[in-house]
Amino acid sequence: DDTTIIGADLLEWYDVHARDLPWRISPAARAAGVRPDPYRVWLSEIMLQQTTVAAVKDYFARFTARWPDVAALAAAPDAEVMGEWAGLGYYARARNLLKCARAVVAEHGGHFPEDHDALLCLPGVGPYTAAAISAIAFDQPEVVMDGNVERVMSRLFDIHTPLPAAKPELKARAGELTPTQRPGDHAQAVMDLGATICTPKSPACGICPLRDPCAARRAGTAPELPKKTPK
Ligand code: ADE
Repeated sequence: DDTTIIGADLLEWYDVHARDLPWRISPAARAAGVRPDPYRVWLSEIMLQQTTVAAVKDYFARFTARWPDVAALAAAPDAEVMGEWAGLGYYARARNLLKCARAVVAEHGGHFPEDHDALLCLPGVGPYTAAAISAIAFDQPEVVMDGNVERVMSRLFDIHTPLPAAKPELKARAGELTPTQRPGDHAQAVMDLGATICTPKSPACGICPLRDPCAARRAGTAPELPKKTPK
């Protein structure tokens, strides 16, 4: 059906156009069934909250060079981690980062749990981060909702209900679209589409892999979606 075709087109696009980001693994490794390291997925997702990909890249490289796994980070002195975080902002994230690393070591033997509810119990891991780790590191069909995904869904289905009221509907649509094959790549594909093509202003509909099924493109409403309730 339509959602299956949309999912397949999106993965095909991702295989060619996925952004090369330091916390991802190469397309060749991905094709061979290698999964990204949960530690690196977790660290990148915490850093990417309230911070752009461009700003995160160098911090991510320095953190992983200095602390290559969660046990190394858990053993680091607080002051060194806070010092390495300096400049990224939102310092509660860094404090929770250390608490979480230590909890993974103390309670899970140094391995991030695969269970979604166990992930949610970790310090600093909310519904978004738990879903992102489940999907990206463990290839579970979790729906990862962020601003990019909300925008892509509102346009693909031409949903004019304003945010935040539209959130449940957008999440339901995203869930219907999530394939059983490669759900982790699918989640990242929607993020990349939103970041590079289905952008807030002047979306590049002409080169979008979903231009045919996109309801907003047909209606000419893409640039004005998603609607937002005035503050
Ligand atoms: N933003 C948040 N998480 C991301 C990810 N895994 N890839 C790209 N952009 C993101």
